[in-house]
Amino acid sequence: MASGKKLSDRLRLIADYAIPEQSVATSIYEPILIDVGTDHGLLPRKLLDEGKLSRAILTDVVDGPLSMAKNNLDADLYGDRIELRLGDGLQPLNHAEGDVVVIAGMGGELITHILETDIVKTKSFPRYILQPRNASDILRRFLYDNDFFIIDEGLVLERGKICEVIHCAVREYTTITDVRVTDTAINANNYCDDCGNIDVGEERMVLTGRRYKHDDTCLTDFQITNIHMAQRPQLLKTFIKSKISSLSKARDNILSHARGNQAERLEIMDCEIEEFKRRIACL
Ligand SMILES: C[S@@+](CC[C@H](N)C(=O)[O-])C[C@H]1O[C@@H](n2cnc3c(N)ncnc32)[C@H](O)[C@@H]1O
Repeated sequence: MASGKKLSDRLRLIADYAIPEQSVATSIYEPILIDVGTDHGLLPRKLLDEGKLSRAILTDVVDGPLSMAKNNLDADLYGDRIELRLGDGLQPLNHAEGDVVVIAGMGGELITHILETDIVKTKSFPRYILQPRNASDILRRFLYDNDFFIIDEGLVLERGKICEVIHCAVREYTTITDVRVTDTAINANNYCDDCGNIDVGEERMVLTGRRYKHDDTCLTDFQITNIHMAQRPQLLKTFIKSKISSLSKARDNILSHARGNQAERLEIMDCEIEEFKRRIACL
């Protein structure tokens, strides 16, 4: 089947996480994909063109983007293999009606909000590909607190910006065989003695929520994870450096403008900067 225009690197990575090559090769898995906040609809269209989906459900909270998706998806060609639904987050979906849910190109807090609105419904879908534009630490914290399992993570450049892509599963579904759950997650602990032990726990929970002395506030583990450190994607060094740079700028800003006692905030920032530097030294 014709597979049309090439996807951007960001959408390609999302697509590859959604439908792992291994599952395509075995051809026993033709999942239903849900694209929440689909906008242009290019991701499900490509996967349908590549013959990797049985069906796709596309949602958006705004009518305009949904119409754009409709224009991009020729009804004659796709027939009842696509469905467009208007609505907020997971609200237009029924429980468990898809195999993998993509929520991409939104802020980390918005994605978190979408996931936490109805946690029972959220957990009725086995796998998620999440691509937060920012605040990924808040999202990972939510995943950690709510018993999700991060299968893989990737970094990809789009228009000069590094985008984070998170492939995760609801813990109850971690026995699913269609997903490439490699040893990476398991072996991602103890990536370097200098970085301290990262306790993976009795199962494959790859975020530990390790805190330094500022319980709850030092979120470096939720920004640069042990999957990143184990896989060392090409962009990782640049990504960590950009975090150090923005933290340092924020720190300087506080020092020159702050009113009141900011000592604790500054200490947390210093702790984060130090931790990021230690991670760079491990690469
Ligand atoms: C920047 S676009 C991303 C499009 C596509 N997912 C991508 O990654 O290229 C964000 C889309 O999310 C939609 N959106 C924002 N909040 C939403 C929500 N609460 N529920 C569903 N869609 C939402 C917007 O209308 C917009 O079409």
